[in-house]
Amino acid sequence: MDLIPAPRRVVEGDGSYELSDGTGIVAGEGTEDTARWLRATLGAVTGLAMAPASAAGPDAVRLSVDPSLAPEEYRLDVTAGGVTIEGGAAAGVFWGAQTLRQLLGPDAYRRAPLAADRRWTLPYVTIEDAPRFRWRGTMLDVSRHFMPKDGVLRFLDLLAAHKINVFHFHLTDDQGWRVEIKRYPKLTELGSWRSRTKFGHRASELWEDKPHGGFYTQDDIREIVAYAHARHIAVVPEIDVPGHSQAAIHAYPELGNSDVIDTSSLPVWDTWGVNPNVLAPTDNTLRFYEGVFEELLDLFPSTFIHVGGDECPKDQWKQSPTAQARIKELGLKDEDELQSWFIRHFDTWLSERGRRLVGWDEILEGGLAPGATVSSWRGYAGGITAAKAGHDVVMCPEQQVYLDHRQAAGEDEPVPIGYVRTLEDVYRFEPVPPQLTADEARHVLGTQANLWSEVMEDARRVDYQAFPRLSAFCEVAWSELPAPAERDYADFERRMAVHYRRLDALGVDYRPPGGPLPWQRRPGVLGRPIEGAPPNV
Ligand code: ACM
Repeated sequence: MDLIPAPRRVVEGDGSYELSDGTGIVAGEGTEDTARWLRATLGAVTGLAMAPASAAGPDAVRLSVDPSLAPEEYRLDVTAGGVTIEGGAAAGVFWGAQTLRQLLGPDAYRRAPLAADRRWTLPYVTIEDAPRFRWRGTMLDVSRHFMPKDGVLRFLDLLAAHKINVFHFHLTDDQGWRVEIKRYPKLTELGSWRSRTKFGHRASELWEDKPHGGFYTQDDIREIVAYAHARHIAVVPEIDVPGHSQAAIHAYPELGNSDVIDTSSLPVWDTWGVNPNVLAPTDNTLRFYEGVFEELLDLFPSTFIHVGGDECPKDQWKQSPTAQARIKELGLKDEDELQSWFIRHFDTWLSERGRRLVGWDEILEGGLAPGATVSSWRGYAGGITAAKAGHDVVMCPEQQVYLDHRQAAGEDEPVPIGYVRTLEDVYRFEPVPPQLTADEARHVLGTQANLWSEVMEDARRVDYQAFPRLSAFCEVAWSELPAPAERDYADFERRMAVHYRRLDALGVDYRPPGGPLPWQRRPGVLGRPIEGAPPNV
């Protein structure tokens, strides 16, 4: 079998079952979303009716919930009598349906039949499967480059095909505010556009001299969330505070440290890096963002809400009489504790509303908020500290799973930034570090691959950076793999040979094993390293 991610247990039978116009879908209670998905997806590519069927006739795809299984666990049987998928909950049934699609062959990933007389057969098989981690995430940054809604919906389909169940939606940053907030219309009227963009690497001298921008209306967001929900993907929104906020300050200059700089002259940022212009730690800022989060909670049912917290330089707070007065008034030690105070405020605020705060690992500095979950990105260290202190953790170390980073050494990659992480490196990534005891390791909710979009200006670039590595990542997140050195990479490559054909059928512009294709390259100047920086940064 050539399934990705690899299932726990496969018993192959002898023979095959053919889908026909008479194959109905029998949807047990709670499985209607998977029935709809099968009909829409397999119905379109096969041209078969896949009609709803109420009786368990001999010729059917039968879906049901078996509460004796874990919620995301499933059992898939293909026999002469048809197909049976039992899941512990609706999610398990859906993941079983994803496996069913893989069993039909790469052409099942197309959207229309190649030939009217094509036959669709499934090998007799019994598969028992369940995920290793409950948080199998992918983050997409839509601030540095906007991904129009269609691209996001397509990306969610790609995630679902890989049994990824968390979409971390990085909606705000210095370079653009991407979500409509009705009570603060200037966030998108002014904050969603920048006049020009640094092209390629941040050391590049090239600019694209045209406005870049876009945002999602609240109805767009509702649609995205519903689309993800139907695919058993939770959308975790991120509003990044108190750093990475220049687009918001451009729209509402009173949010910045106006006692230090003239915040009314700050544009939406047009280049990359860590930005010194951060939010002022005032009551006005807290009330403003409570307003933002209030609308956000209406849009996103996710338990987890991400508040960023990364890369907040403290220089302006050091110079600001307002910030210093606040430190004094609260009896804090320093600016790190001031940031902690800021994050704690939203931890309490979100907890009171039944939600849970997640933040990047800088939220450990100055003291971790009591309810906080940590996204460990600067290596494993933050995640280890947080897990040992009893906090939940999502492991997403940049050295391992920042997929905007280069996938090969040398200067052939389109914009070769960051750490070199090959497909094999990602396959051998282990989310749970050995420093954690079994008890502590239970706090590792899972793992996440992150895609920052400074050098990914459109969906094709996202495809190139994400794939094929996200296919390796999904197996790390889903499958019970041996220790990194013992993983059978040759077997993964063998299965990838088939998986590339699935990606082809889906129209994914992935990086081929032999390196970028001519149109995937860029002039070398764009990938030039920064003077004085380590070679792979
Ligand atoms: C991050 O990469 N700044 C979280």
